[in-house]
Amino acid sequence: MKGFSLYLYYLLLISSTTSYNILVFCPLFGHSHSTFFGRLADILTEAGHNVTLFSPTIIDEFRNYSYTKLTKDVAYLDPSPELKAIGDLIAGNKRWWNQEFSVFEIPQTTRFFKSITREQNNVLANNLALLDGLKQKKFDLILFESVFTCALPLMEYLEIKSFAVAQSIAYEPITLGALGDTVMTSHIPNLMAQSSDKMSLCERMLNTLIQAMLNVYGMTPEYYQSYTNPEKKIYTLEKLSEASFIFMNSNPFLDFPRATITKNIQIGGISVNLDTLKSSGKLTEEWDQILNLREKTLLVSFGSVILSQDMPFAYKVGLTNAMKQLNDVTFIWKYEGDDKKEFANGIKNIHFSKWVPQRELLADPRLSAFMTHGGLGSVNEVSYFGKPTIMCPLSGDQMRNAKMLERHNGSIEFSKYDLHNEKVVANAFRKILYDESYTLSAKRLSEHLQFQPVKPKELFLKHVEFAARFGKLPSLDPYSRQMGFIQYFLIDIAFIVLTVVLTIVSVLYFVLKFVASCLKAKIKTD
Ligand SMILES: *[C@@H]1O[C@H](CO)[C@@H](O)[C@H](O)[C@H]1NC(C)=O
Ligand SMILES: *[C@@H]1O[C@H](CO)[C@@H](O)[C@H](O)[C@H]1NC(C)=O
Repeated sequence: MKGFSLYLYYLLLISSTTSYNILVFCPLFGHSHSTFFGRLADILTEAGHNVTLFSPTIIDEFRNYSYTKLTKDVAYLDPSPELKAIGDLIAGNKRWWNQEFSVFEIPQTTRFFKSITREQNNVLANNLALLDGLKQKKFDLILFESVFTCALPLMEYLEIKSFAVAQSIAYEPITLGALGDTVMTSHIPNLMAQSSDKMSLCERMLNTLIQAMLNVYGMTPEYYQSYTNPEKKIYTLEKLSEASFIFMNSNPFLDFPRATITKNIQIGGISVNLDTLKSSGKLTEEWDQILNLREKTLLVSFGSVILSQDMPFAYKVGLTNAMKQLNDVTFIWKYEGDDKKEFANGIKNIHFSKWVPQRELLADPRLSAFMTHGGLGSVNEVSYFGKPTIMCPLSGDQMRNAKMLERHNGSIEFSKYDLHNEKVVANAFRKILYDESYTLSAKRLSEHLQFQPVKPKELFLKHVEFAARFGKLPSLDPYSRQMGFIQYFLIDIAFIVLTVVLTIVSVLYFVLKFVASCLKAKIKTD
C-alpha cells in the first residue's frame, strides 16, 4: 500500500511539470568541471527530464571516470591530434608549488583557453554526422560552461532555441559582464585576485588591472563561423548575452556579498550531497580504524591537479617534521608518490594514501581539521561539513577562495612558501586544532548553508525549467549592458556638476574681488 501511494506521488510529481529534452555540453578537460556538470545532469534526470551529456574528450584519462550516476545517455567524441596536444599541456602543473600565479599569467592563460575552445570547435565542425544524430533529439535547452563557447555554433547547428551558462567557478567577470552583471573592481575580488573585498588602494589598482587585462586579452574567440554557412559569423559575447540564466558555483552565504542581476543564479554547493553522506557507516573498516587511532585527526590534501608528490623536497620535510611534533594527532596525507621513506621514515602518526574518501572523511565527526589547496570543490565541501581549515592556495582561483572562506573566521590562510618551515607549519596545525573559535565559526557557516532558505538544487531545477519553457528572456536583460563607460559610471554627470560648481565658485570669487577692490578704493579716497 505504501509503495503504491509513493508511486502515485511520483506520478503526480512528474506529471505536474513538463519533461524537457536537455543537452549538457561538457568536454573532458578538468575533473572538477566534469564532476560539476555530471551532478547538474543527474539533478535534471532525477526530476524526470531527458538529459544527454555530451562530453568530447580532451584529456584521455577522464574517459575512465563516469561522472553521472542517473544520466545514461552520454555521447563522446575523440579529440583531434591538435586538441590532444593542448590537453597534454594541462598536465604540466608542477611549477605552481614555488611560482607565483600573478597578472603576468593572464596573456598566456587567455591564449590557452581560446585555443582549447577553438580547437574543440574544429573537432565539432568536422563531425557533423555525430551532430546530426544529436539534432534528432530536438533539444529544448543546452547548458554549457563559458570556457567552451564553441557550444554557440553547436547550438545553432542543433537548432536549440534556448541556453543557459553554468560555471563551475565562483566568479567569472567576462561572461557575467557580457550579461550585464555588475563587475565592480572596487570591492569584488577578481577570479585570480589575492585580496578580499576590503582592499587597500594598491589592491584595488591591481584588481582593476586584472579586469582590464582580461578585457583586453579576452577569454574566448571574438566569433565563430556557422557550421552550415561559413560566411555567417556568430559573435561570442553578443550571443552569450542572450543566455536565459547564468548559474554560478558560488553561494551567497559563503561568497563575498555583492549586487547582482536576476539572471545570475548562485547554486554553489550543489555538488555536495549532504543527505547521503550524513548517514554514518560510509567509511570502510580501514578508514574507520584510522580515525579511531588518536583523539584528533587532520586531513591534508592538495587536490588531484597539482600533486603532493611534485612539491619541492624541502616542503615535504617541513610538513612531515611539523606532523612529527604533534605526535598525539593522526595526519592523513593524500600523497601519490612511493618515495615516502626518503622524508618520513619512522614517523608513526602519518597515514599516507594515494586516494582519500575526502567527502566521507569531512562528514565524519572524528575528523578535526582539514588542510587544503582551496580548490572550489573542496571549499564548498568543507564549508558544508563545517570543519576548521588551513588554506594553502597554489594557483588559479584558489587565492580568492582562501580569502572567501577566511571571512567566516573558521579558516586560516597559509603561504605555500612557508611549507618548508616546520615551526610555522606546526604553529598553524596547533592553532587550527586547539583554538576552539575556528571550529565554532566553521560550524556556524555550515549551519547557514544547511538552512539556507532556498536550496541550490531547487534553484537550479526551477530556473532550468523556466528557461526551457520560455527561451530567451529579454525582459531580464539590463539596459546597463548597452551603456558606454562614461554613461555607466556617470562620468558625464560628474563633469557637468564639476563645471557648474567651478563656474559658480569663480564667478563668486571675481564678484567678491571686485567688491573688495571698490571698497578699498572708497577707503583710499575717503
Ligand atoms: C523522453 O524520453 C522518453 C523515452 O525515450 C520519451 O517517451 C519522451 O517522449 C521523451 N520526452 C521528450 C520531452 O521528448
Ligand atoms: C569574524 O571576526 C571578526 C573579528 O572578530 C568579526 O568582525 C566578523 O564579524 C567575524 N565574521 C563573521 C562572519 O562572523
